Amino acid sequence: LRDAQMRWALAGPLDGAADDGPGRRVVVMTMGALHEGHLELVRTARTEAGANGQVVVTIFVNPLQFGQGEDLDRYPRDLEGDVAKLAGVGADVVFAPTPDVVYPDGDPVVRVSAGYVGEVLEGEHRPGHLDGVLTVVLKLMHLVRPDVALFGEKDAQQLLAVRRMVRDLEVPVEVVGVPTVRESDGLALSSRNAYLTGDERERALTLSRALRAGSDAAEQGATGVINAAREVLDGADGVVVDYLALVDPATVQAVPDDFSGRALLLVAARVGTTRLIDNQAVEVL
Ligand code: PAJ
Repeated sequence: LRDAQMRWALAGPLDGAADDGPGRRVVVMTMGALHEGHLELVRTARTEAGANGQVVVTIFVNPLQFGQGEDLDRYPRDLEGDVAKLAGVGADVVFAPTPDVVYPDGDPVVRVSAGYVGEVLEGEHRPGHLDGVLTVVLKLMHLVRPDVALFGEKDAQQLLAVRRMVRDLEVPVEVVGVPTVRESDGLALSSRNAYLTGDERERALTLSRALRAGSDAAEQGATGVINAAREVLDGADGVVVDYLALVDPATVQAVPDDFSGRALLLVAARVGTTRLIDNQAVEVL
């Protein structure tokens, strides 16, 4: 693996490193255009790794997880800026391969299937997306060989799919979820927020507002939660909803009307040409 194919950013040794045990190798996988949400994953990774451990950040815009007509070509890329940000939050290694390093034989013949987890919600609107995610996540796990891999709760269905892959295929990696980082007005941070105009950014707030309205209606049961969130979405101009669902977090199946307990409220919507997703845990009474 040569310099032309990847770049490494090495941090200096940490003070007091000798006292802290061997540490673990922790990976944060990203597609770059890093924001505070990604950086929070890296800070958590630093804590998980310990002073003597290694924090590896991968940056790779994975063609396999983009469908026809999606934003692969215009996905924001800023490797220099990303490496500069990572130096400040405790990353030891940046692995930013080109597609020919990850897929030397072209598109892989053998792939991972997310099964039914990849067919509902995101899967209905982005067929094959989660299969593409799992395939690259498994490849990157084999290339990096981490003890721990961190994923954001922002992409809840992705996190669930990765957990299922690791369990179902006995992948020897511990998966840790990190809570969603939001702007002070509630907008979940996303690299795709960079596409939004000022006006669209205002409309994008509808997603987190709908989730909040839904969780505020937790006492009214599952139907009350969905209805409250739906009302906010219906009242917004220029927000085209792909789905709104209240699901069992373990299975991503919709919960029954008489459900009580912890559920996940998920929303996906398009604002202009930008597709956004968000979710929130709700304790349904
Ligand atoms: P990307 O969208 O760059 O996200 C990288 C990681 O950051 C994911 O685990 C995602 O859930 C997390 N993340 C993004 N926004 C976040 C936020 N606001 N708060 C907390 N975590 C956040 O997800 C991917 O890349 C790709 O599918 C990948 C897993 C790298 C495979 O290609």
